[in-house]
Amino acid sequence: MTEMVQMNSPDPSLRVKPHLPDAQTVTFVRHWTERLFSFRVTRPQSLRFRSGEFVMIGLMDDAGKPLLRAYSIASPSWDEELEFYSIKVPDGPLTSRLQHIQVGDEIILRPKPVGTLVLDALLPGNRLWFLATGTGIAPFASLMRDPETYEKFDQVIMMHTCREVAELEYGRQLVESLKDDPLIGELVGDKLLYYPTTTREPFHHMGRVTDNLSSGKVFADLGLPPMDAEHDRAMICGSLAFNIDVKAILEGFGLREGANSEPMEFVVEKAFVGDGI
Ligand code: FAD
Ligand code: A2P
Repeated sequence: MTEMVQMNSPDPSLRVKPHLPDAQTVTFVRHWTERLFSFRVTRPQSLRFRSGEFVMIGLMDDAGKPLLRAYSIASPSWDEELEFYSIKVPDGPLTSRLQHIQVGDEIILRPKPVGTLVLDALLPGNRLWFLATGTGIAPFASLMRDPETYEKFDQVIMMHTCREVAELEYGRQLVESLKDDPLIGELVGDKLLYYPTTTREPFHHMGRVTDNLSSGKVFADLGLPPMDAEHDRAMICGSLAFNIDVKAILEGFGLREGANSEPMEFVVEKAFVGDGI
């Protein structure tokens, strides 16, 4: 229930905003491009989650009902706050409003994390591949900052593809910041290999994740052997079409899709729903 407390008080200091159900307060907002922004909110004390999982977040609609969407938690499980990385869909029911949030505003956060992109859903291996397009990097922004990722794997490869260079910036800065991170920097060391590419603007590395895997270009560029089921594990997060195409390529390398209940060599999650193939 929305509580209205002293909204009409003549004294501004006594005017309290409507209190949302499962409310969390926005602590930070940054706009990266016209289509992308990230923000941080307070974390409910009771919320426990595994890095890579998603929750439902949202705002009240005009009728006073919660308008909720799935969002990957982009911060690691040890962080005191929660971070999200979001698209701005111009006429999207939620993000047409969410893109205007400011520090001090409240959002709704249902504290029931779920998801398949968790380390527990993978069998032990040597190399862990994160394969993402667009906002699909969000769960990996969490996993890249989790010590367990580096305790379990010798090498972690972040492949992120966007149409344009500016869309890579959130991921680039995050990876850059890990080197000097007082908590995790030493553990990351040189284990994390970052392979960003664009498809529609010139950049030092270009091409779709699918093409760079199929042609072997990414292996040659990084000095790694081709993927195999004994050594390589992978997590996929992008559009439905991307997920289907990458899955077929990984299966071609002999990797099998796993789940929380049955760990295997790779796992998949949609970065959003509603796109055709
Ligand atoms: P919607 O009505 O939900 O979407 C309108 C259309 O916009 C969709 O049909 C689709 O074509 C397009 N679209 C929606 N989301 C995206 C996107 N992320 N990238 C490109 N196109 C998109 N979104 C995030 O921005 N960050 C996340 O971390 C994130 N995690 C998700 C995790 C899961 C498991 C799922 C299923 C979705 C996730 N989404 C994420 C998508 C999110 O739930 C919403 O769809 C998005 O916030 C847009 O909401 P909307 O109400 O404005 O528009
Ligand atoms: P491309 O520019 O060649 O379409 P979008 O903005 O459409 O969601 O795409 C984000 C990125 O994902 C783009 O670089 C796009 O490449 C790439 N992409 C889209 N669909 C696929 C797919 N089926 N397989 C691999 N990459 C894809």
